[in-house]
Amino acid sequence: MTAVWNKSDWRAKPRVQMPEYTDAAALQAVEAQLAKYPPLVFAGEARSLKAKLAQVSVGKAFLLQGGDCAESFAEFSADSIRDTFRVMLQMAVVLTFGAKCPVVKVGRMAGQFAKPRSAPTEVIDGVELPSYRGDIINELDFTPAARIPDPSRMLQAYTQAAASLNLLRAFSQGGYADIHRVHSWTLGFSEGPNAERYRDLANRISDSLDFMNAAGVTADTNHNLQTVDFYTSHEALLLEYEEALARIDSTTGKPIAGSGHMLWIGDRTRQPDGAHVEFCKGVQNPIGLKCGPTITTDDLKRLVETLNPRNEPGRLTLINRFGAGKVGDHLPRLIRAVEAEGYNVVWTCDPMHGNTIKSPSGYKTRPFESVLREVREFFEIHNAEGTIPGGVHFEMTGKDVTECTGGVRAVTDEDLSDRYHTACDPRLNASQSLELAFLVSEELARRVEAQRAAV
Ligand code: PEP
Ligand code: CO
Repeated sequence: MTAVWNKSDWRAKPRVQMPEYTDAAALQAVEAQLAKYPPLVFAGEARSLKAKLAQVSVGKAFLLQGGDCAESFAEFSADSIRDTFRVMLQMAVVLTFGAKCPVVKVGRMAGQFAKPRSAPTEVIDGVELPSYRGDIINELDFTPAARIPDPSRMLQAYTQAAASLNLLRAFSQGGYADIHRVHSWTLGFSEGPNAERYRDLANRISDSLDFMNAAGVTADTNHNLQTVDFYTSHEALLLEYEEALARIDSTTGKPIAGSGHMLWIGDRTRQPDGAHVEFCKGVQNPIGLKCGPTITTDDLKRLVETLNPRNEPGRLTLINRFGAGKVGDHLPRLIRAVEAEGYNVVWTCDPMHGNTIKSPSGYKTRPFESVLREVREFFEIHNAEGTIPGGVHFEMTGKDVTECTGGVRAVTDEDLSDRYHTACDPRLNASQSLELAFLVSEELARRVEAQRAAV
C-alpha cells in the first residue's frame, strides 16, 4: 500500500468539509512555501508516541488528550499555552498518582485550527454568510469579507504552531514540568474543592519525593522527575496544509505528517473512500478516528483495515463520542467487531462532542454531568466486555471560562454569558478538567482493584 501511496492522492477522492479557495494561484503559492518550511515535528517523536500508545492499548498506560476545540489567532499568547499545559500536567499527576498508571500526554494544540461545521452557511438576523471554518481558513467576524477562505492564513497557522511547539518543548524539558514543582502548578487557580483536593495530593507527592530523596533517588539521578514528554495533535481536516507539510522520514524512508505528532479523522470526514481517510492511511503517524453514533460496524472494519493494514499496536486510536446515555447502544457492537477480528486499537472516550446542547439562554453548552456520565458508561462497558478503556479526549482550557454548565464550582445557565470565550465548542474550565481527572482516576483505580481481586 505505502509503496504506491502519494501524498496528493487524496485530491482524486470525494472531499467534504473543505473550503473552496477562489484564488488558485494564491493557494498554490502558499502550498509551495509551506512545502519548503521545516516540518513542525520529527518522525522519531511520532514513532515514540506510537510506542507509548501501544502501551496504552494493552492497559500499561493511559492516554490524556485535550485542549482547545479551535485554536485561535486572537487568543494566542504564552499565558494561554502555559495555562492549558499546566492543567494537563495537573490532570496527569492526578491520574499517575491516583491510578498508579503512566499517562501519555497529547495536546489538541499547535495545529488544531480547522473545523468541520454542521452547515455550510450561517444565518444571523436574516443575513446568510458562509460558516466560520477555523482561523486557518477564514475569520469568525460576521462579514462577507471575513468569511472568504484565505490560503495565506495557513502561513499564520504554521507560524503560530511553530511558536506554540517551541514553548511547549521549553515547558516540558526546561524545568517547568519538574515534579518538584507540583504545588506551583496551582498558581492562578487556587479556589474550590477540586483545588483543595489537588493540594492534598500534591502534599502526598512532596512527601514521597522527600522520601525518595532521602533514599538516594534524586532528580539528578532520575531525569524522568524533571521533564515530561508532551505531544501535539489535531484534526487532519485541511488537506492542502497537511500535504504541504508531509515529509519522508529519513530513517524509514516512509511518509510522515510533519504538522503534528498525532492526527485524527473527524466524525464527519471518515468516509472510507473519502479524501481524509486517503491522506491519513499513507502517513506513519499515530492516527485517531472519531466514532460517533452513525458509524456502522462494517464501516469501522473497513476503516481499521485501511488505516492499519499491518495491525500495528499504537497506530490507531478509536475516539468514541456517542453522548451520555447512548454509549451502551454503540460501544458494545464496535468492541465485539474489533475483538472478533483481533484488531489492535486504543479505545478512548471523547465525552464532549456527543453532549452539546443549546441552553435555555441560547448558548451552545455541555452539561458537565453528561460529560462525567459518558466517561462512566465508557468504563462500565469496557469492564463488562473485558476490554481496555485506554484514555479520554476532551476540550478544555486553563482559563476560568464559563462554557460548560455544572461542576463542583457550579456554572449555571445564567453564568454562561460571563466568560464565554470559545471560537467554537464549549470547553471545560480548569476546575472542571481537574474534576474529570479525579473521576477517571477513581474509575481506573477501581478497575485495577477488580482485576487484582479476580486473580
Ligand atoms: C472536534 O473534535 O472538535 C470535532 C469536531 O469532533 P467530531 O469530529 O467528533 O465531531
Ligand atoms: Co469541538
